Amino acid sequence: MRCAQITAGPIDAPVRATYLVFGSPQLLEPEIEEVVATLRSCWIGTGPRVAAFEKAFRDYVGTNHAVAVSSCTAALHLAMVAIGLKPGDEVIVPAMTFAATANAVIHAGGRPVLADVDRRTMCLDAEDVARRVTPRTRAIIPVHFAGRPCDMDALGGVAGRHGLKIIEDCAHAIETLYGGRHAGTLGDIGTFSFYVTKNVVTGEGGMATTADPAWAARIKTLALHGMSADAWKRFSDEGFKHYEVVEPGFKYNMMDLQAALGLQQLRRVEPNLVRREAIWRRYDEAFEELPVFLPPPEEKSTRHARHLYTLLLDIDRLRARRDEVLMALHRQNIGTGVHYRSLHLHRYYKETFGYAPGDLPNAEWISDRTLSLPLSPKLTDDDVEDVIFAVRRTLAHFAR
Ligand SMILES: Cc1ncc(COP(=O)(O)O)c(C=O)c1O
Repeated sequence: MRCAQITAGPIDAPVRATYLVFGSPQLLEPEIEEVVATLRSCWIGTGPRVAAFEKAFRDYVGTNHAVAVSSCTAALHLAMVAIGLKPGDEVIVPAMTFAATANAVIHAGGRPVLADVDRRTMCLDAEDVARRVTPRTRAIIPVHFAGRPCDMDALGGVAGRHGLKIIEDCAHAIETLYGGRHAGTLGDIGTFSFYVTKNVVTGEGGMATTADPAWAARIKTLALHGMSADAWKRFSDEGFKHYEVVEPGFKYNMMDLQAALGLQQLRRVEPNLVRREAIWRRYDEAFEELPVFLPPPEEKSTRHARHLYTLLLDIDRLRARRDEVLMALHRQNIGTGVHYRSLHLHRYYKETFGYAPGDLPNAEWISDRTLSLPLSPKLTDDDVEDVIFAVRRTLAHFAR
């Protein structure tokens, strides 16, 4: 369907009666029933549902090992420890990512080295990564941004030449395919998020995937105090079992209450993607003529997970900056997100590592323009049309 001519209009009146919350999860009866069944079982901690969720996820992604943890941040941290990161080791991460990607390196004693991204794909630029490799570099963390896979052939080439590990940040990329293979199986370890806004949600939650049994075992041990046996086996109907602490681990285990949600959410992962693809197409056609850069089509032999629909505002053709557009949409009852302000612009990374504006030009360019619109299988067709109406009206208002 083509949209009617864009007309400027008032941008202070709500386009709908209720606020459209950005990233609100779709939770249906099966999730509610599974959580209630978990409560009735009285096994709410780490137990059989976590084991079942790990198996279902392993099968979905097509990997040998999947370890459920409390968040993607935890999975990233454990991956850094598992690959043997030592104090002062460097890990290359994109500047255009959520803070957790870089913070996990710091938690493990390493130093995150920010690399620039491609303006179109918003994923790591392999040439810039290659320029930032030093004798201290140990790993690269590609972020499959918004669900679009990074150029893993190019990044694999850099990693191979310098003997670096690749830890994939798949927080946006549960359904992502690259050359027919799932994200999370393309590097050494994959890390996933089931945070409330993600494509599969468990409230908080994460998963580490790997083909390597030794890394999987170490991550599992580290996620539960460094104990050699799972807690649910400690107190199971098989009777008490002694455990051995083999190293000082963390408290990063997932609970059955969370896995209950994940088990049911994972069943709908493919139909939900189909729905988000339809919303994506509708947005693409509705915004084609606006002063924006649309997300580019997916690359050949890949599948985009459609996690974030991110417009880049063409601010040279607008009389407003991104935040004014965002606030105008907010006043119209449309919630949006910013993914992200480049890490080098945040106070901590500037003060600690000496980054300054201008250091990572593409990430900075995106930071100034990016605006994520609601994209959830929960959206009705009317919700989608409300977003479109508000965005078109707002950009017409601010157009030069
Ligand atoms: C790219 C990226 N990496 C890591 C994370 C951290 O995920 P979690 O909240 O599960 O720790 C997020 C979460 O928003 C993310 O978007």
